[in-house]
Amino acid sequence: MRTSGYSVTFKVENGAGAEGFAAPGESLFDAAQNAGVVIDAPCSGNGTCGKCRLKLLSGEAEGGDSGARHISAAEYAAGWRLACATTPRSDVAVQVSASSLAWQNRIRITDFSGERERAVFAELRDNLKS
Ligand code: FES
Repeated sequence: MRTSGYSVTFKVENGAGAEGFAAPGESLFDAAQNAGVVIDAPCSGNGTCGKCRLKLLSGEAEGGDSGARHISAAEYAAGWRLACATTPRSDVAVQVSASSLAWQNRIRITDFSGERERAVFAELRDNLKS
């Protein structure tokens, strides 16, 4: 049971979606990872690649660029943010950008809650170790 932080609703262009959560200080990128929403992030969330773009649809958030390195002032005003550099300040809803979709421009929502899924994941992990 959470005691603080904010809910993050992810909306995907193909109509899919996911509900996530950002603990205090966590970024939208962290919330996406926690929710199983795979956002393309070649720099692993360091704020350097500019690939993790998403659009803030509602709510308040802090940061997300616009020293115009990756997000122009006009884009920022329209709600575009870098997920890894944005910290929610309220419950938020975001749309994941097509350019941020992982797996060849498709978003993949993983669910490891089932027994079968956990077994597949464990097998893959074990194969990587050997
Ligand atoms: S993951 Fe590279 S800028 Fe956000």
